[in-house]
Amino acid sequence: MHPPLALCVFWLLPLALTLEEDSPLDCVPRRSVPYIRANAHLFHEEGVFNYSTMLLREDLDLLLLGAREAVYALDLKDITKKVASVKWEVTQQQRDECRNKGKDPETECMNYIRILHQMEDNRMYVCGTNAFDPECDYMSYADGKLTLEKKAEDGKGKCPFDPFQRYASIMVENNLFSATSMNFLGSEPVLARSSPVSIRTEFKSSWLHGNI
Ligand SMILES: *[C@@H]1O[C@H](CO)[C@@H](O)[C@H](O)[C@H]1NC(C)=O
Repeated sequence: MHPPLALCVFWLLPLALTLEEDSPLDCVPRRSVPYIRANAHLFHEEGVFNYSTMLLREDLDLLLLGAREAVYALDLKDITKKVASVKWEVTQQQRDECRNKGKDPETECMNYIRILHQMEDNRMYVCGTNAFDPECDYMSYADGKLTLEKKAEDGKGKCPFDPFQRYASIMVENNLFSATSMNFLGSEPVLARSSPVSIRTEFKSSWLHGNI
């Protein structure tokens, strides 16, 4: 490395670390909608929890919503209206295996939808924690129906194993960029690009602090 550049990196690094410690991510949302109970539109389905992932499909007039063990397509003009839905539940065998590894069958051993992105061919890419065994699939919307293709792609490095762990992802030209952890214990943070040619960061806790 060129000496002045190296110097610059080492000078900036402590600064970045200090900033992170002093200010908890101070993000300003692009758009805020005040929540007023009287005129708020709420969607909720009986017995379904953890509505955590959203994808806006203005081309389809839909808001896609990923929850625990299900994905919904809501009417963009009135999100209380469910246009379609598809279930993605873990099997009893997957739940048993997850429980045998010491996880709670009622909370952790379920499929929490964590990734919901649009692909270039207009299908969607969906990943879930899948009872501590993350998995991804392709989903399409046609004739008022949501369909999962059941491709069962490995979700390791794309989606967390642990539903309580934080993560981030973005799809750019069919490349999924993700920040999550790679392993069951959630102790190996990774930044990855998944596409036909996948790349990932090497594991170095000093870079990623081990707490994404
Ligand atoms: C799921 O939702 C329940 C009820 O709101 C909440 O107690 C629980 O912490 C949530 N789980 C996750 C993984 O977010």
